Amino acid sequence: MVPSTRSLSFLLALPALAFFSLSASALPHPRTASSPATLKLAVRINSYGIKNIAAADRARIQARQAGGSSSISATNNVMLYTADIGVGSPPTYYTVLVDTGSSNTWIEDEAYKKTATSHDTGGIFWVAYGSGDVAGEEYTDTVTLNSDLVIDNQSIGVARVSLGTEGLDGFLGLGPVGLTRGTVSNQGQVATVMDNLYHQETISSEVLGVFFAPASSDNSSGELTFGGYDTSKITGGVSYVPITSTSPASGYWGINQSISYGDTLILDETAGIVDTGTTLIYIPSDAFDKYQSATGGTLDEATGLLKISSDQYDQLSSLYLTIGEVTYELTPNAQIWPRSLNSAINGTSDGIYLVVSSSGSSSGSGDDFTNGYCFLERFYSVFDTTNSQVGFATTEYTYATTN
Ligand SMILES: *[C@@H]1O[C@H](CO)[C@@H](O)[C@H](O)[C@H]1NC(C)=O
Ligand SMILES: *[C@@H]1O[C@H](CO)[C@@H](O)[C@H](O)[C@H]1NC(C)=O
Ligand SMILES: *[C@@H]1O[C@H](CO)[C@@H](O)[C@H](O)[C@H]1NC(C)=O
Ligand SMILES: *[C@@H]1O[C@H](CO)[C@@H](O)[C@H](O)[C@H]1NC(C)=O
Repeated sequence: MVPSTRSLSFLLALPALAFFSLSASALPHPRTASSPATLKLAVRINSYGIKNIAAADRARIQARQAGGSSSISATNNVMLYTADIGVGSPPTYYTVLVDTGSSNTWIEDEAYKKTATSHDTGGIFWVAYGSGDVAGEEYTDTVTLNSDLVIDNQSIGVARVSLGTEGLDGFLGLGPVGLTRGTVSNQGQVATVMDNLYHQETISSEVLGVFFAPASSDNSSGELTFGGYDTSKITGGVSYVPITSTSPASGYWGINQSISYGDTLILDETAGIVDTGTTLIYIPSDAFDKYQSATGGTLDEATGLLKISSDQYDQLSSLYLTIGEVTYELTPNAQIWPRSLNSAINGTSDGIYLVVSSSGSSSGSGDDFTNGYCFLERFYSVFDTTNSQVGFATTEYTYATTN
């Protein structure tokens, strides 16, 4: 990693943050939660040779547990949720991965079109992902989300060394700002896109709403909502829990959660993370062993996932994830990989594969589970920096038969 020369810049920014929140009503054009701005997402099914999705996701988890910044194996991910963001003035639009598990925003050098707003800060950025490192020069530039959310002076990496993922120009880092610590040579931390939307008074609370429609439905898409959440996408209210105090999950969008399969508790309350950059749902190996014996699944070599017969599918119980006071139910249909996408994971067309997989280490790591897309496609999620909390709500897809 690039040695970090810690500066006072972030400490100085803190009082300013408090000031803005107090004076929001006096600001010229504050956006309120009642008028959040949304950005449409596209989902890309990576059909060119994703094999062993579980191994790819596990690499991301293990790099994280080892203290890495993030570790998406973007080149190996089956489903990539992407957004188009504008950079420069006039903006050039780039397709970037939506990642709540990392916090730097960057685009590839060869795609980057410099305009009058592009400013080389002289800093070098370097982020270690599981599948490789991304590094280059740190710029500031104007970033446009949708056409109406314009951020001035957003710090962005311009990557000379990149992951080279086809169809992807970069990352939109939506994780906590602390994950940027030490990633840019001449700065302590780098204000994220969310931080700047808030500091620049474009949104009145630093809140991100994430909606993913199941990739297997006709509407294979989703949306990000800045400054609030989209009430039209949820059924019922949002229930929040504080960010977990358990490290290292506490440095991410980390929460406490316990898990039952049917009536059987398979994981006592423990800490883990919510991550839009992970495909499956990962639980620690001890909980996974209980899940495997309860479902009767056998580990399938071709996919790296548990495979069950149609008889076993008929017998499947719901998986219950308890977060705070609320229990979120993953129905049997929500626990299986979309059969229409079996070929993308090296599965057979009639195979039934479970999306709950083992993290590869036993519980007690301080980062025991990952609620990835397969969870987030069933529950709307709200990432609230202002109140240090994460929220979930049911959607029209929570109990739907889509797989
Ligand atoms: C962005 O930086 C430029 C100079 O680098 C400065 O003139 C401008 O005021 C800054 N804008 C914001 C919103 O901070
Ligand atoms: C997709 O969205 C359209 C318009 O919102 C809706 O009419 C249609 O039922 C949706 N299809 C599915 C499969 O959800
Ligand atoms: C989460 O679990 C840890 C460990 O049991 C506990 O100390 C903490 O109070 C719980 N809640 C939060 C919000 O961290
Ligand atoms: C894909 O599955 C076949 C068996 O169906 C297996 O021989 C092959 O090794 C698998 N490929 C990968 C990359 O796992």
